[in-house]
Formats: sequence, structure tokens, C-alpha cells
Amino acid sequence: MEIIIQPTAGEAAGIAARIIARLLRKKPDAVLGLATGGTPLSLYQMLIGMKLDWSRVTTFNLDEYIGLPREHPQSYHGFMWENLFRHVNIRPENIHIPDGNAADMPAFCAAYEKSIRAAGGIDLQVLGIGSDGHIGFNEPSSSLASRTRIKTLTPQTRRDNARFFGSEDLVPFHVVTMGIGTIMEARTNLLLAFSENKAAAIAGMVEGPVTANNPASVLQLHPSVKVCVDEPAASQLERADYYRWVYANKPAWQVV
Ligand code: GLP
Repeated sequence: MEIIIQPTAGEAAGIAARIIARLLRKKPDAVLGLATGGTPLSLYQMLIGMKLDWSRVTTFNLDEYIGLPREHPQSYHGFMWENLFRHVNIRPENIHIPDGNAADMPAFCAAYEKSIRAAGGIDLQVLGIGSDGHIGFNEPSSSLASRTRIKTLTPQTRRDNARFFGSEDLVPFHVVTMGIGTIMEARTNLLLAFSENKAAAIAGMVEGPVTANNPASVLQLHPSVKVCVDEPAASQLERADYYRWVYANKPAWQVV
């Protein structure tokens, strides 16, 4: 795991944007896994500003609420179109977002997994992290080998996400999410976390045991993970000074 600690969220997002831009320039038909939530918003704004060519890029989103109409502003379909897709030259047929209204959810989930494989797998998966350590919507106790499926949100996640809906009562209970096994197959995982309320989850993910109690901790077993965090999100890392030293002393060819 490469832990990249930056003074501000903007600087951490800037590094993530450069990592993605470099991939899209090197591999114009890259397959990106995308995330929603407040965290990747600045990253998406930076990518839009970079005027990259998305015409051959394929995307797969991590998750979606069950039961929200697609046009609902808090559906992840709505979020992605509003905050990224409508601003870049991606082809609509190359965009994949889980269908929270599929009539046959298990069949939909199996087909989603199949379409990821058919696209050649995900080159780079963008991840946020929940304050309880969830990635995608894989809440604590998720199987570390899980595939795309329906999940039930924890009360903590529903509280965390109430800010988008105006009221906790309006946050759906059920979601469809790529599994942890699905995420672990991405060639690279790029996780972003900003602000102090992510500090405990980040410390558990990086320095705690691998446990379904902090699903993101499974990334310790992944061969290529970059973690872009601001100082508050890094504030509970015991080895923060070491991670800073490593980043400041990377060989020139590794610097983004
Ligand atoms: C959300 C999403 C995750 C996201 C996490 C953190 O509910 N399903 O993909 O990473 O929870 O969200 P935020 O970035 O808003 O803190």
C-alpha cells in the first residue's frame, strides 16, 4: 500500500487526478471503476478541467441505491451524470452503473460481473471509504470474497449519507454494490479519504488487522493500492512519518 499524505484534500485529489490522467493518456481505452459520495467530487472536477479524451474509456460504478428512480438527484446515476459524465466526451454505451431497480436483482448482479470481465477487467478502481471502513457499500461483516450483490446499510452509513437526502428517513435501506472480491480484482485501487471522520477507518485499513469488521483492510492483500489522504484523515496513522518519508523520497521514475 502506498500512503500519500497531503496537507489538504485538494492536493491529495490533485495527485489522484494525475494518476488517472496518466493512465488515460497511456491507455486511451482504459476501464475505470468509479465511486460516488462527497470525496471524489474534487477529483472529478479536476479531471473535467484536464480535458482528457474519454471517447474510448469504459466505466463501471461501484454501487447504487435500491428503489430510487434513476432521475432522482441522489441516485448514483444522477450523481455521476451531473458531476462527471455530462462534462466529458464519454460514450453513454461505455458507462455502467448498477441498476437499483432491476426486476431480477441476482440476475442483474451476475450480468454486471460478466460485463466487467467482458470489458477486460478494471484497470483502476477509484474508492472512497465509509467512516465504518466500507468500500463501495460493503458494510462491516461483508464477505471478503463477495461479488456484486444486494446489501443492507448500517445505521451509521444511513446517518452519514443523510446529509445528501436532507433527512435520514429518506435514505434507502438497501443498495446494490460490487463485492469486495470484485474490487480486489481491479488491477489498481486508488482510495481517497479526507477529513477527520475518516481517520479511524483509515488507521484500521492501513495498520489494523485484515478483518471484515473494517472491509477496506482487505486492501492490505492487494498488490497495487494507492491511498491519497489529507492530514486530518491521516491523523491516527502510527507510521505517518514513515509514509511521508517514503513519498518524499520516491525514485524519480515513480513520481506522478
Ligand atoms: C458512500 C459510498 C461509498 C463512499 C462512502 C464515503 O456511501 N457508497 O462509495 O466511498 O460512502 O462517502 P463520502 O465520500 O461521502 O464520505
